[in-house]
Amino acid sequence: MNIKATFSVIFVFVGVSAANADSATEIVKARQSDMKSIAVSTKAMAGMFNAPDTYVSSVFQAAAGEIVRRAGGHLVSEFQDVTVSTGSKATDAVAKDRARFAELAENLRSYAAALEEAARAHPGQMTQDMRMKANEPMEGGLFGTAIRSPAKMSAEHAFHLMLQTCASCHSRFRERD
Ligand code: HEC
Repeated sequence: MNIKATFSVIFVFVGVSAANADSATEIVKARQSDMKSIAVSTKAMAGMFNAPDTYVSSVFQAAAGEIVRRAGGHLVSEFQDVTVSTGSKATDAVAKDRARFAELAENLRSYAAALEEAARAHPGQMTQDMRMKANEPMEGGLFGTAIRSPAKMSAEHAFHLMLQTCASCHSRFRERD
């Protein structure tokens, strides 16, 4: 290979890796922004469970819907090409255990979809049947692997299991602050 050809190979290589770094940064920014939106929606719903008189069905439903859209396959796809990266807190476990990551992303979607449905079914007040019942067990999400049937539980119970899903995923797949 002559010098000119060698140079152009290096040049192309550098160009490509710089482009990749840029798009990796974009991917990381986009998924972090999605996570922030998920957190904002979660906080909105938590506020209404804490003060049921502030419940507004359409707002609750929209918040749950925001999470549904960003969970499941969408969440998985955001970690498909880039896992550990500059500026990201994703751990190398994301690439090592894709099945578990996908399962938690799907559980997030299921619980959020149950919350969306609960809001649709309760257009007026947050009635007592949306609240946690005394006989509903709290364990499950954090250590359990199988998802419970969200359609059969109270909305508040689905909400608690959703929060456990956030914690389960972060404990394994996100670096601690
Ligand atoms: C399937 C895995 C998974 C689930 C479920 C999940 N997260 Fe995350 N979350 C992550 C990962 C991985 C990161 C780190 C992303 C990065 O820095 O590239 C993250 C980052 C975050 C961040 C920080 C975003 C930033 O600005 O850097 C917040 C806030 C957050 N998640 C909130 C939540 C909440 C609230 C839930 C549940 C309602 C949730 N997450 C569910 C995997 C998950």
